[in-house]
Amino acid sequence: MSAALYRARVFDAPTGPVGEAALRASDDVGLLVRDGIITRRGPWAEVSREPGSRDAVVHDLRDGILLPGFVDTHVHFPQVRAIGGLGRPLLEWLDTCALPEEARMADRAYASAVAQELVHGLASAGTTSALVFGAHFSDAMDVFFETAAGSGLRITAGLVVGDRGLRDDLHTDPATAYAEGLALAQRWHGRGRLRYAVTPRFSLATSDEMLASSAGLLSDVDGAWFTTHINENTREVATVARLFPDARDYLDTYDRHGLITERSVLAHDVQPTDGELARLAASGASVAHCPTSNASLGSGLFPMRRHVEAGVHVALGSDVGGGTGFSLLKEGLQAYFAQQLLGDAGLPLTSADLLHLATTAGARALGLAEVVGHLSEGMAYDAVLLRPPAGSTLETVLRHANDAEDALAKLFVLGTPADVDRVWVAGEDMNDTRLTSTTPKVPLTTLH
Ligand code: GUN
Ligand code: ZN
Repeated sequence: MSAALYRARVFDAPTGPVGEAALRASDDVGLLVRDGIITRRGPWAEVSREPGSRDAVVHDLRDGILLPGFVDTHVHFPQVRAIGGLGRPLLEWLDTCALPEEARMADRAYASAVAQELVHGLASAGTTSALVFGAHFSDAMDVFFETAAGSGLRITAGLVVGDRGLRDDLHTDPATAYAEGLALAQRWHGRGRLRYAVTPRFSLATSDEMLASSAGLLSDVDGAWFTTHINENTREVATVARLFPDARDYLDTYDRHGLITERSVLAHDVQPTDGELARLAASGASVAHCPTSNASLGSGLFPMRRHVEAGVHVALGSDVGGGTGFSLLKEGLQAYFAQQLLGDAGLPLTSADLLHLATTAGARALGLAEVVGHLSEGMAYDAVLLRPPAGSTLETVLRHANDAEDALAKLFVLGTPADVDRVWVAGEDMNDTRLTSTTPKVPLTTLH
């Protein structure tokens, strides 16, 4: 790949923790990218004159704002078409909205179409890395990984397993879960930008034997990730306590199998105990905060301050389809709202904190902190160019922003996927054919 030299206004937020993140805003910066890696970052006037820039193709991006690609730490592949199921708490929503749709993934062709929709949805929203909650069918996961590989995105995902509490057609058994998971991991883990994540759905849907099988798979697949749900909804938490009477708490149902490490990402954690927070912090595990889902399903207001004060690492997840779309700008704004609504118990978030959550914090949760999350020298060029249409409210207010922090706040408040102009992963432009939607346009009147 030849070198590329980008001239841009760049915002990133490499330093945390959330609550103390600092915005790094560079108005006229040069980013020299070779083989997908940023080899030089500095004032345009300097970088553009350096000998190393001589052979580079110049891209002038000054009509937008360049951010690091977003990192979504919790998004469900088989729930793209379930987005918008409003009005139900978690367990009813699963029964009526999510699980009937997930059962359709038994059909490989159906799963293939949804996989395309997922990678397209992620890239269109500016998401370049994601920890994706998979499907219950190994064939669906095979086609999903194939699609993810073709997309060029950085995807970590795995077969979702459960052996009780769901629909019969989604249940499996511990031996099959292990065998199918291992076969998928052998085929896809470490291939290109893909990695495998061991994924029991949640303790409500898994026996101890199933969690033991997950632990076996996690230790047998070198470098595999672990993800699941925890402490989302009060009825769910009470049910898990009943199902596991000898567990100290919800976290312990996973922890006593050795599933909680620095390679674990636990979604939600809206209702944690102090003891769970202390053990999460000690383990180095991360929590995927999913604010639109928490609001939509009425799960509650995420105790961000308690997490941060306990030393628990927090990142952002869209939780599609409990969440309301792929945009991490929207998740950032909703994360801000939730903390405002908590009053004194909330953690006031700046726009720099929101950017940090959506990028650097996510990269750390996924073990990619040395690779992506900010646009420093040595990092991969994973980036999103936000460029609001002329005459849009966002474009207008950006022109009147007081400073960079203010402009960034406006991006989170008003930005949508419609403002995503270009997306790169490792220097590859995703606007090339790979991610253009294959779905033909259908008049809305033909839809129900
Ligand atoms: N807990 C178990 N499964 C799910 C799911 O699909 N979505 C959410 N939000 N929580 C869950
Ligand atoms: Zn989820």
